[in-house]
Amino acid sequence: MSFSYDLLIIAHDDPYPAYRWLRDNDPAHYAETAGIWVLTRFADVSNAFRDWKTWSSGRRGNLINDPPERVGKTLGTTDPPRHTFARGIVNKAFTPQTVAHLKPKIQTLARELSQTAREKGRFDFAADISAPFNAAILGAMFGVPDEDFIRIRRWLDDFFLREEAKAGEEPKHKIAMRHLTEYVNTLAEARLATPQDDLLTAMLQAEEGGQRLDTHTVVVTTMTFLTAGFESTNNLFTNLAHALAKHPHVFAEVKANPDLIPAFVEEGMRWDAAAQGFVRTPTQDIELHGNVIPENSQVLLHIGSANRDERQFAHADIFDIHREKLRHLGMGQGIHFCVGAPLGREMAYVIFAELLAASDTWQVDFTGAERVKTPDFRGFSKLPLTIVN
Ligand code: HEM
Repeated sequence: MSFSYDLLIIAHDDPYPAYRWLRDNDPAHYAETAGIWVLTRFADVSNAFRDWKTWSSGRRGNLINDPPERVGKTLGTTDPPRHTFARGIVNKAFTPQTVAHLKPKIQTLARELSQTAREKGRFDFAADISAPFNAAILGAMFGVPDEDFIRIRRWLDDFFLREEAKAGEEPKHKIAMRHLTEYVNTLAEARLATPQDDLLTAMLQAEEGGQRLDTHTVVVTTMTFLTAGFESTNNLFTNLAHALAKHPHVFAEVKANPDLIPAFVEEGMRWDAAAQGFVRTPTQDIELHGNVIPENSQVLLHIGSANRDERQFAHADIFDIHREKLRHLGMGQGIHFCVGAPLGREMAYVIFAELLAASDTWQVDFTGAERVKTPDFRGFSKLPLTIVN
């Protein structure tokens, strides 16, 4: 059997047998049509994440076909020393207190949304729970008012599309990027004039070694936070809701014992990774598994596959919330490890605790579900869920 990795395979219902085939037969795979290399084994993906000198994020970015205007300007698309400086500032602005400060809002909103969901009984988990919850929390964190978030929402969704535009038309992700830049620019100007208690202001004011980030960098960094944060949390949450419906015994167990929710969230991040892969560019030719990956090529570090590698995880295809010392790659690894991880985890714990408490049953109408179609993220744009008998 020969196989060429297709970028939208991640939107298939079950791409995992194909990933397994690649791990076993062609672990350093060249996908001809897409023009990218794909690493699928845990050990290779993990090594590449940790070795930023050989596997650059700054040469061609970290998304598949990353728009050149993004590369070198965001946290995820820079290498040290630029990355070290920017990450230092972001770490100062994005502290455990930032998450602690948001906790009451996370709790109240999760409860309100779950109560409304219970009254409805059947609803769209993506549109009625995940999106409004994530938009409100990320908005509150950066100082984007709720009503504006509804307006910029479409651009956050379009940002990760990589569809070919019709002749004479601008691709959707470029339009989205332009509008988002304009929006965040105006917001940054307002915060420079009148500082507020939000992350945007904190980043504009933070200093590292006596230096500040210039406004343009703060604007681009904020856009990355909004897009990366919104897209990843929505995909994570919809995948978790889907995994619960697929595994009724897990639903019963975590409902009976909410202390298991963090373990359920962690296993969910491993079993069906929301961020299925990020790109790196080798800074020299790399010999791997009998192939030579040329310097400057795009290489997809396949998190989705690495997390199911049976060389690393016993019975990797089984959803098991009792795994010990689970070390998955769902939030990345190394210097680019997800800066929003503590927030994303906290939000997941609270929304699932509230919704599970409000539910008698957990049934997804699979015929009405729709998957997102981007080459980097896996999740659902529509997920009809019934929680009342
Ligand atoms: C909850 C689900 C989330 C998942 C599954 C996730 C996943 C990831 C992964 C895998 C990376 C590594 C990227 C790379 O190595 O190139 C990453 C980085 C990043 N994430 Fe997240 N993320 C989540 C939530 C968030 C949130 C809520 C935010 C912001 C509020 C955020 C902001 C970022 C940023 C800015 C980076 C780049 C960090 C750097 O390059 O130093 N993420 N995320």
